Amino acid sequence: MQYPFRRQPLKAAYLTYQVLTTLLLRIPLWVLLAIPRPLRPRASWSVKRTVFVNFVRHFLNISARSGPVIILPNHLAITPGENVNGVWLDPAPQLVTGKLQTWMHATSVTPSRIPGYWIHRKGSTIEVAAAPKPGEKVLYNLHGGAYIRLSAHPSDVTANIPRGIVEHVASIQRAFSLEYRLSSHKPFTVAHPFPAALLDALAGYSYLINVVGFAPADIILAGDSAGGNLAHALTRYLVEHQASDNSIPALPGGLILLSPWCDLSPSHEGPGSSSVQFISSDYIHPTEGGGDYAKEAFLGPLGLGAAGRNPYISPASKDPSMQIDFKGFPRTFIVAGGAEVLYDQIVTLKDRMAKDLGDQLTYYEAKDGIHDYLVFRWHEPERTDTMKAIAKWVDTL
Ligand SMILES: *[C@@H]1O[C@H](CO)[C@@H](O)[C@H](O)[C@H]1NC(C)=O
Repeated sequence: MQYPFRRQPLKAAYLTYQVLTTLLLRIPLWVLLAIPRPLRPRASWSVKRTVFVNFVRHFLNISARSGPVIILPNHLAITPGENVNGVWLDPAPQLVTGKLQTWMHATSVTPSRIPGYWIHRKGSTIEVAAAPKPGEKVLYNLHGGAYIRLSAHPSDVTANIPRGIVEHVASIQRAFSLEYRLSSHKPFTVAHPFPAALLDALAGYSYLINVVGFAPADIILAGDSAGGNLAHALTRYLVEHQASDNSIPALPGGLILLSPWCDLSPSHEGPGSSSVQFISSDYIHPTEGGGDYAKEAFLGPLGLGAAGRNPYISPASKDPSMQIDFKGFPRTFIVAGGAEVLYDQIVTLKDRMAKDLGDQLTYYEAKDGIHDYLVFRWHEPERTDTMKAIAKWVDTL
């Protein structure tokens, strides 16, 4: 059963038990077991990284039993705070056409008003939502969290990505992070399956162009994990429609996919795959940690089967029914961690994109990196090295 301890007072009792046993037993044990280097998942890892990865994995495992442990901001409100620059976005139903319209009707999802947050480089004097300066690029950021958790709010752990990019990339002084709608499913309220987040991503793109005034070519679209899935889907939508429909905006100047979740079908699972081999070196677990719930929630009325054959949902799916190409995509930068469970599907995506894009596709792999390692400030030196590589790549656009 999913989320067996979601109800009070069971939830409080379960979480108290987990806090105590984690502090008193698990963490000391993880430290002890990580002291001999051969026992660490990767020889290059520090004790600290080994323990942190165990901790994140355990935390996700607990959350998949208790439900949300921390209440995070969501699309229903702008959560205020120091240096929090939230804005409301209008929905963009006028940009919905073709298959997206069909999926919208099939799932009863409708466009919605949602917030987004501006994250500026430290010391920047640019005003919130100000018109672009000459030569200025903007990061349009879509956060990760399996489409079911986390937030675009600057207090969220995923905000380390836009913050890192505005800090490292000279031409990007600010990022806009979209608070797209998250999916949820039984035993919680069933809400916002695909294509809700895609409708939101389209509205965010339209906001940057039509309200703030950025030229599409000056927008760098980025997403980590599920945010990478969404960034790909938005790009695919623009690629497929902007030539034939002049109300659809042009493509962004670049696309950055960080540990993208790009196969929601089981086509990359099985013995010998990274989804089995790298369980010990990653915090994502194929069966524990809420992954199945996330797929059900996100796929909603389209059903789990849609994952294998829908190019917007699983661009890396190896299902025989999948027909896909990447012709017309903008220049793309893909990041993978060599120790992550999603490694194989990211390599499939990279190979497919390279086939159509040639040298317009740049691939960066951190040999011993975990899933979405740019989110974690303790994942050095890979985090800074990757930020520098992204900065170099943006300079060439
Ligand atoms: C998740 O928690 C369950 C129950 O406490 C345990 O049996 C299982 O081994 C854990 N899985 C992981 C990957 O930690």
